[in-house]
Amino acid sequence: MPQKIIIDTDPGVDDTMAIFFALESPELDLIGLTTIFGNVDTELATTNALRLLEIAGRTDIPVAKGADHPLVRPFGGGVAFVHGDDGQGNVHLPPPQTKAIAQSAAEFIIEQVMRAPGEITLVPVGPLTNIALALRLEPRIAQNVKEVVLMGGNALCPGNATPAAEANIHNDPEAADVVFGGTWPVTMVGLDVTHQVNMTRAHLAQYGAADNPIAQHIAQIVPHYQHYFESAYGADGIYVHDSSAVAYVIDPSLFTVERWPVRVETQGFSRGKTWPNMLSFELPPWENRPLVTCCVGVDGAGVVELELSRLT
Ligand code: BDR
Ligand code: CA
Repeated sequence: MPQKIIIDTDPGVDDTMAIFFALESPELDLIGLTTIFGNVDTELATTNALRLLEIAGRTDIPVAKGADHPLVRPFGGGVAFVHGDDGQGNVHLPPPQTKAIAQSAAEFIIEQVMRAPGEITLVPVGPLTNIALALRLEPRIAQNVKEVVLMGGNALCPGNATPAAEANIHNDPEAADVVFGGTWPVTMVGLDVTHQVNMTRAHLAQYGAADNPIAQHIAQIVPHYQHYFESAYGADGIYVHDSSAVAYVIDPSLFTVERWPVRVETQGFSRGKTWPNMLSFELPPWENRPLVTCCVGVDGAGVVELELSRLT
């Protein structure tokens, strides 16, 4: 039986690749998309999610709109310099013909998880607001979800939104601290590994050469995103963030992990930094916190090969 997943997303170029990767993987059954601010605002994230399902010919999959602001502080705005004004590399797609369902993202997550105990994996690849709201609204989802595999955070490496913090966590650190503190199995696929998964220019060229609508869409939207990585990091191509979380769900053996309790800094210039306690003893404020599975190593070539094998 394929693994049922819900992707919580702020599409986003790499979110787009992750969604298509999931749709094209027989190991996975994508039962819904829930949307969140981050790369763009929640309204545009929802519009993009609908557009992407139309491109993929999967308008049977529901889209539930999520929160439009973080738990505590206002949303700081999208990152057009990374993902384009439209979150899709400035290709400016036509409006979707479909609509989001009436349920909110948190309500949809709760309903699906409680209806199928132990069967659903949540794959958040944006800020964690919807996931924290769902947990607060219905704490029993912690015992009923299969697991949470999230893209976000930085355990042992610098951030990308600030020197301290990774973008998804930085957009709602309070929500992230709720999620890492929940008594459910959480896996953090953070910058420690995603910066080791490099899709090079030669890899990216394979999308343009592939004769299918999803690969063609990726080929159109990726140049703007690629330009960001090449100018900001001197990279050859891009680092693979959101698809790495999808790869983990498909094949966790591509990753090496450590189990640590994680707190999220919510104050000062380190706001959004994910702090694992690697010491062998309990220490405030990590006392009584559950262990989080933190990805620390990855077969980067294996992840790239897996994604390309599904999409090109
Ligand atoms: C994360 O931030 C967003 O820009 C990407 O979509 C990814 O989810 C990487 O830090
Ligand atoms: Ca994302």
